Amino acid sequence: MLKPEMERALNEQLGAELYSSHLYLAMSAFCEAEGYPGAARWFRVQADEERGHAMRFFDHVVGRGGRVRLGEIPAPPAGFDSLLGAFEQALDQERQVTAAIDRLMALAAEHGDHAAAAFLQWFVTEQVEEEKQVADVVAALRAIGDDAAARFILDRELGARPAEG
Ligand code: FEO
Repeated sequence: MLKPEMERALNEQLGAELYSSHLYLAMSAFCEAEGYPGAARWFRVQADEERGHAMRFFDHVVGRGGRVRLGEIPAPPAGFDSLLGAFEQALDQERQVTAAIDRLMALAAEHGDHAAAAFLQWFVTEQVEEEKQVADVVAALRAIGDDAAARFILDRELGARPAEG
């Protein structure tokens, strides 16, 4: 049986994953408008992935006889400084998510909730990959600087990201 404090925390993370999806969709729209179709696709795939993360929390709560509670999803920023700025903000978001997953893990341990700990382990591993993926793009964009031709090539590479699943 899911303890109320765990249920509340898992629902909160469900909402945070939906916000990530919302944020990345906003970044995709920004990239479309700025002429970066590859990065737009990359963020769109990422937005889909985040919705998938949210659904994992949904299914875990439901599967344990808990109650899913959906709250408001805050509006993401309307725009971003630049392509680099968007990816920097994405990296910041992923770092915040990693910290939230770590807090959830600690809470699960505190409550002796082994089912939640086993469930959350997938996210611990996933966050390592997600942070690295975004950090690699940030590093590439910083190295590229004002080189428009190099940015064009990177955008094409980002556009090759396959859809999830
Ligand atoms: Fe669901 Fe990108 O963390």
